[in-house]
Amino acid sequence: MTSALRFLMCPPDHYDVDYVINPWMEGNIHKSARDRAVSQWQQLFQILKDLAIVDLIQAQPGWPDLVFTANAGLVLGNTVVLSRFFHKERQGEEPHFKQWFLEQGYTVHELPKDLPFEGAGDALLDREGRWLWAGYGFRSELDSHPYLAKWLDIEVLSLRLMDERFYHLDTCFCPLAGGYLLYYPPAFDAYSNRLIEIRVPANKRIAVQEADAITFACNAVNVEQTVILNKASDDLKTHLAAAGFEIIETPLTEFLKAGGAAKCLTLRVTEPVQQDLHAIATVESRAIRLEGHLLDSGLINRALDVIVEGGGSFQVLNFNLGEQRQSTSAADVRVSAPSHPVMEEIMTQLIDLGALPPPQEVCDINLQAVTQAGVSPDDFYVTTIYPTEVRVECQWVKVQGQRMDGAIVVSATPAGPIAECRLLRDLQVGDRVVVGVEGIRTVRKPEARDQRNSSNQEFSFMGAGVSSERRVELLVEQIAWDLRRIRDQSGKVVVVAGPVVIHTGGAEHLSKLIRQGYVQALLGGNAIAVHDMEQSMMGTSLGVDMKRGVSVRGGHRHHLKVINAVRRCGSIANAVEQGVLTSGVMYECIQQNVPFSLAGSIRDDGPLPDTEMDLIKAQQEYSRLIQGADMILMLSSMLHSIGVGNMTPAGVKLVCVDINPAVVTKLSDRGSVESVGIVTDVGLFLSLLVQQLSKLNRPYSLSVS
Ligand code: ARG
Repeated sequence: MTSALRFLMCPPDHYDVDYVINPWMEGNIHKSARDRAVSQWQQLFQILKDLAIVDLIQAQPGWPDLVFTANAGLVLGNTVVLSRFFHKERQGEEPHFKQWFLEQGYTVHELPKDLPFEGAGDALLDREGRWLWAGYGFRSELDSHPYLAKWLDIEVLSLRLMDERFYHLDTCFCPLAGGYLLYYPPAFDAYSNRLIEIRVPANKRIAVQEADAITFACNAVNVEQTVILNKASDDLKTHLAAAGFEIIETPLTEFLKAGGAAKCLTLRVTEPVQQDLHAIATVESRAIRLEGHLLDSGLINRALDVIVEGGGSFQVLNFNLGEQRQSTSAADVRVSAPSHPVMEEIMTQLIDLGALPPPQEVCDINLQAVTQAGVSPDDFYVTTIYPTEVRVECQWVKVQGQRMDGAIVVSATPAGPIAECRLLRDLQVGDRVVVGVEGIRTVRKPEARDQRNSSNQEFSFMGAGVSSERRVELLVEQIAWDLRRIRDQSGKVVVVAGPVVIHTGGAEHLSKLIRQGYVQALLGGNAIAVHDMEQSMMGTSLGVDMKRGVSVRGGHRHHLKVINAVRRCGSIANAVEQGVLTSGVMYECIQQNVPFSLAGSIRDDGPLPDTEMDLIKAQQEYSRLIQGADMILMLSSMLHSIGVGNMTPAGVKLVCVDINPAVVTKLSDRGSVESVGIVTDVGLFLSLLVQQLSKLNRPYSLSVS
C-alpha cells in the first residue's frame, strides 16, 4: 500500500454466469470455472493491495454479479449516488451496496424509481477531477445525468453508447492520470466522439483497436502511473508506455464471460472533491405535445423513436387516450438531450411529425438577419412540405409558399406580420430568417388507421403476389375517378414525364389524356419532347420502330434530325403551325394550350429551342406551373419528379409510377397520406388509365342494357 487510496471489491464466492443481460453472457451460462475465477480474482486483489487499501463487501448468494462493485454506485467525496439497476436480475444488489455505504458514513442519494443508473460502470471522473463523463444508451438513462450534476456538484458530460458489446461506459472508456484517455471510439455516436475530441487533446487520446476493445483493454484500473488490465496488444503497450504508464496484465477471462474485467471488479471509493468546480448540467429538456391518432397511426412510436435514435431520452408526462376509434389522443412528453445541438436536431424532426410546443409558452420565434445575399444565418429552420406556422407576437402566423428545403422569412407589413418560404438563393440582405426550433409547428392531418393502411405504399404490378395486379387495377380506378372529378370541377392536374413514357408506348395514351382535357400542365426534360416528336415524325423512339419493336437501321440519328427540324422552325409551337409536327404529346399540348416546361440537362442533344438550359429559370418555371395543382402524376422520371416533389406542399395528391421500386419508394415516402406509388410499366399504366376513363365516360344506359 503506497497511498490512502481505497477500493471496494467483493470476493467471487457466489459468482457465476446465471443469466444473460449482455452479449458476453450469451452462451456462457454456468460456463465459468469456479477455481479459475477465484484465483484470477485473487491475483487482481493482490496487485491492487500493493497500490491501495482494498475494502471488501460480503458476497451474497443469489446475486452473482455483486462481484462487479463498479456498479455499486458513484462516489465523489463523501457522497454516493446509489445504482438503480436496469435489469431486475441485479436490482437485489442495491440494498447490500446501500448498507455498505451507510456503514462507511457516506451520504447516500437514491434516484427516482424507474430511472436506471449503474454507478461507476457508467460514470467516470476525469482523473484530474475536472468533470464527470457519464454514459447512457443501454443501462443508464440520460435523465439520471442532471441528478448526478446536482448531487455531486460537478459538470457532467454525457456520452452515448452505440455498440451493445460495450454496454457500460467503463467497458470502452478509461480516463487516465495526466489527462490521458484510453478508449474505443466506435463505441460512441458522432456527437459523443466530437465532445471527447473537444475535451481531450489529440496527443492525450489513446484510441484502441477492436481487438483490444473486445479483450476489455479499456476496462482498466488506473492508479497513478500504473494501468492494470486483462490483456493488451503489443501496440497498445507501446502507446501506453510512451505516455509514461506501466502496464500490469492480469488474466480475467472467467469474468469476461459475464461481460466484466479489472475495472468492473473494483470501485474507487476515494475520489477527492475539487472545490473550485461546480455543477453544469448540459442535459437540456423541453416539453412537447402530440395530438392525433397517436396509437392507430403509430405517431407516438415514431416520435419516441426519433427521440431515442437521435440520442435523447423522454418521459411521458401525460397520455390521454381517445377511447373511440374516431377520437384522437393527446400526449405531453418531456424530451431531454445531452446538449443543445442534439436537442435542436431532435426537435426539428419532432416538429416535422407535428409536435406542438406547450400552449402559449413561446411568444416569438427567433429571427436572425441575412448579412450576405443568398446565404442564410446558420441554424436556420429548414422547411418541409407540411403546412407550417410560426409564432410572431404571440400569434400563430401561417407560412406562405410552403415547399421543402427553404428558409422561413418573416417581415412586418402594415397589415401585420407575414411569413414565407424562401429558397437560399433568393435571400436578400436584411431578410429576417427563422433560426432554431422555438415557436414553430407543422400542421399534420390526423392520420387514421385506415388511411395508414391504404396509402403511402407501393404496389407491384409485375411483381410476385396474386393480388397485386388487382391492386393496381383498383388504384387505377381510383386515379381515373379523381382525374374525372378534377376535370369536372375545373381543377388542375400536372404531369411530370420522362422519355420512358414514349419508349413504352405511352405516347398515344398521354396524348389522349391531354386532348380530353385531363392535363393542365406538362413538365419534363429535353428527352421526352424529342422522342415524342421523333415518334410522331419518323415512327421511332430512340431509333426503335414503335410499331414493330425493332431497331431501325440508322435509327439512332432520327432524334437529331427531329431536333434539327424543330430548331429550323424556331419552336415546337411553330413546328405545329407549319405542319411539321402533326401528332403526339407535344402536338396536343400546343393544340390544347397546355403549358409545358422542358428543363435541360448536361446530356441533352440539341437542345430543342423550347428547352430551358438555365436550371434556375427552369426550376422557377416548374414551380409556377405546379401552383394550385390538385394532383401530380409522376411518370418515370426520377430527377424531374424529385424536383417537383421538393416544390410541392403536402395536400397535393402525388401519384408516382415507375418500374424501379426504389424510385417509387423515394417519391411516395413523403410521410403524407396523399401520395401513392405504383411499381409498373408506365406505358401499361397509361393504357389502363385511358381504358378506365373511357369506361367512366360510357353512358349509364349502356351498362344496364
Ligand atoms: N454481468 C454484469 C452486467 O451485465 C457485468 C457488469 C460489469 N460491470 C461493469 N462495470 N462494466 O451487469
